[in-house]
Amino acid sequence: MALPPGPKQSSAYQTLAWTLRAPPFLESSRREFGDVFTVNLGIVEPVVVVSDPDLVKKVFTGDANILRAGAGNKVLKPILGSRSILLLDGPEHLRERKLMLPQFHGKRMEAFTQLMRDITNRAIDGWQVGAEIKLQSAFQEITLDIILRALFGLDEESRRTTELREALHRMTRWASGPLSQITMSREANNKPGLWWMVKPSIDATDRLIYAHIAERRNAKDLAARDDILSLLLQAEDENGKGLSDRELRDELMTLLIAGHETTTTAMAWAYERLLRQPDDMQRLQAEARDEDRDEGWTDAVIHEAMRRRPPIPMVARSLSEPWTLREEDGPLPAGTIVAPSIWLIHHREDIYPEPEAFRPERWLGVKPDTYRWLPFGGGIRRCVGASFALLEMREVLRTVAARTELVLADPSSSRERISRRAIVLVPRHGTRAILKSRQPAAQSEPAAVAA
Ligand code: HEM
Repeated sequence: MALPPGPKQSSAYQTLAWTLRAPPFLESSRREFGDVFTVNLGIVEPVVVVSDPDLVKKVFTGDANILRAGAGNKVLKPILGSRSILLLDGPEHLRERKLMLPQFHGKRMEAFTQLMRDITNRAIDGWQVGAEIKLQSAFQEITLDIILRALFGLDEESRRTTELREALHRMTRWASGPLSQITMSREANNKPGLWWMVKPSIDATDRLIYAHIAERRNAKDLAARDDILSLLLQAEDENGKGLSDRELRDELMTLLIAGHETTTTAMAWAYERLLRQPDDMQRLQAEARDEDRDEGWTDAVIHEAMRRRPPIPMVARSLSEPWTLREEDGPLPAGTIVAPSIWLIHHREDIYPEPEAFRPERWLGVKPDTYRWLPFGGGIRRCVGASFALLEMREVLRTVAARTELVLADPSSSRERISRRAIVLVPRHGTRAILKSRQPAAQSEPAAVAA
């Protein structure tokens, strides 16, 4: 069985290009070979990259027993655990997804609005006027606090919040370092490596999570609580069976890891442009400063930021048996990885003229199309936290825009280059800004979930 043609360079060269310069590597391959091409990354099976919306639809709506996502995420097992939704396939995946998805429903998420605003306001109060702020790090502090408190329903100042925050900081610092991928891949394949360096942080996080699960299971007010752990503890499948402690631990870890760096990065990219396009920034500020004003600009900014710089550039499905993507190629062999490229779809000139330009107005009055705007992936693996992330970005960006005047730390730079951190594409210098001035926070009700 043949594979669609693709770059001819050695797999070592392609791996390096994919790791260090994924977008230009993908774009030059598309220019040469078209909407479907094969790249060879050496350590994994051949990857067939897909960037045509109709073919991406075929992948996302294809038989999930053949197009398996969990198998391809095996490398995450040492951190997330084997019961994580990201690692499961088939009926096991569907069961966990059905238990989790209702807890992330748009309406339920609204309970977190005030919490998101309060955490952002407190963070802004700590920023120093006149000082340089790396917005990627500043947003990361905010999103980590939001996800910790939304998931666990912890009080802001509780000892467990502080301990969990510190343990997660250690883990995410390590995970974004240069050795994490290789270390995790060796551990996932039971090969000796540097796993001992990170294991203590994982063990410490696990102890805290298990202690919290035990406490919540016995909490008298469980039914009245609206944090996600409490909701998950009450969820049951069609046989009346809930999630075990082990399953809960793996899902909580998954939500913690999947749920904050992605959102952080999308917001950092939004500011990377807003700081350079003052008219767009002023329009956001005007909308954010008036509670009753919503012309759709905030959402347009979010959609455009995630189109131009999707935090996750590609998703992958591993074929469990031969499968036909395009008749002209015939069936692709079992083991092949089929990878819808979010980046390439979002940079198609025929869908988004001048794709590198940041133009929120593309989205005014426009509902994104499922297979043309897909920062959250698609089909039965579409991001569980999409509603949460969209609400969070909206609340954080509006609160920051309403209260601050931020300017570029380095006005001579016209754009920020892209760096890879684990699987996320981040602004290389973290979106550096200077806080020129800050307004006081609007009076607000205390957050319900913080009670
Ligand atoms: C801007 C922020 C985010 C982006 C860009 C993003 C993107 C993605 C993508 C591309 C996938 C893979 C879809 C696929 O394979 O087709 C995914 C899956 C997932 N995401 Fe997100 N995500 C974000 C935020 C979140 C948040 C806030 C949470 C949870 C609180 C979350 C939880 C998950 C989970 C659990 C999955 C696995 C779904 C499954 O396998 O069925 N994500 N996300």
